Amino acid sequence: MEDSLNPNVNRFMGRDIISIEDLPKEEIDFILEKASEIENDFRNNNFLNYRKAMAGKIMISAFFEPSTRTSTSFQAAILKMGGNVIAINEDNSSRKKGETLKDTAKTIDRYNPDVVVIRHRKDGSARIFAENISAPVINAGDGKNQHPTQTLLDLYTIKELRGKIDGLKIALVGDLKYGRTVHSLALALMNYENCLVFLVAPDELKMPASLTGKLSSKLKIEERNLAELQKTIGEVDILLMTRIQRERFPDSPEGQQEYERIKSQYTLTKNMLSMAKPQKNFKIMHPLPKVDEIEPAVDKTKYAHYFKQVENGLYIREALLVLLTRGKND
Ligand code: NCD
Repeated sequence: MEDSLNPNVNRFMGRDIISIEDLPKEEIDFILEKASEIENDFRNNNFLNYRKAMAGKIMISAFFEPSTRTSTSFQAAILKMGGNVIAINEDNSSRKKGETLKDTAKTIDRYNPDVVVIRHRKDGSARIFAENISAPVINAGDGKNQHPTQTLLDLYTIKELRGKIDGLKIALVGDLKYGRTVHSLALALMNYENCLVFLVAPDELKMPASLTGKLSSKLKIEERNLAELQKTIGEVDILLMTRIQRERFPDSPEGQQEYERIKSQYTLTKNMLSMAKPQKNFKIMHPLPKVDEIEPAVDKTKYAHYFKQVENGLYIREALLVLLTRGKND
């Protein structure tokens, strides 16, 4: 387990992963390489080093919003490497009694865990945790803000599928207003050369102008409407679909009406895939869960890669857990 950034120091040790913008490109690439090394090592049953490094380490998994993949993959990652998990959630914790996030964080800190993973509906919640916990804190999704570990696994998958990220044409489709996965991913793509990013969204769910303003300083972006989805399939290397984030709509009758109006505005159908150009090696990704935005028949096509994306989440999270918690003597 050499550290190629600097063989004498593990520069990730003790760090928080809150925003993808906290990671410069060479660190992102390093994590992707570490994940690839872990994928290989685990495939070859070569995991004793990881077991030695992680034995007895404790991860506190604090998911205050629903999760299947992110929470399970973090737990699977630490358990496969010989560590332990304490899991808390909104229903089984004193959050239900009205405790503040800050007090929950200060409490967790007193148990001296090795790493803490948090998901919460409030933008900025992971930062509040990090400010009150001395162990490394990993943001597993804070409101509509960011989801940096999803981005790392998305980048890993793109690299695996296409061998590179530079120069690709990538369409981000769906809820670009509330979707934290696409916010983080778009920011990360600013690190790569010559990417062209199509932003395809319902008018009501366009990417916020504050974000597109930032993106356009380093990235070629083109906003498109949903009617152009099929045409876009014929032009891109990667189509990344996303779900409408129903839970982020205002909790009022008007908010719910707006959701009902928008919800069936886009569905990727198998028929639409006839636009894909064979020579382009076109791929479909999705952070999941998917609801109505992809016809189930698409799953069986050679273009669909979202379940491999799920698997890659395990390797990325194993890499992060090792890097953030590894001391000098591990
Ligand atoms: C995403 C999330 O929670 O932001 N899911 C995930 O972690 N893979 C996407 C979503 O909920 O739509």
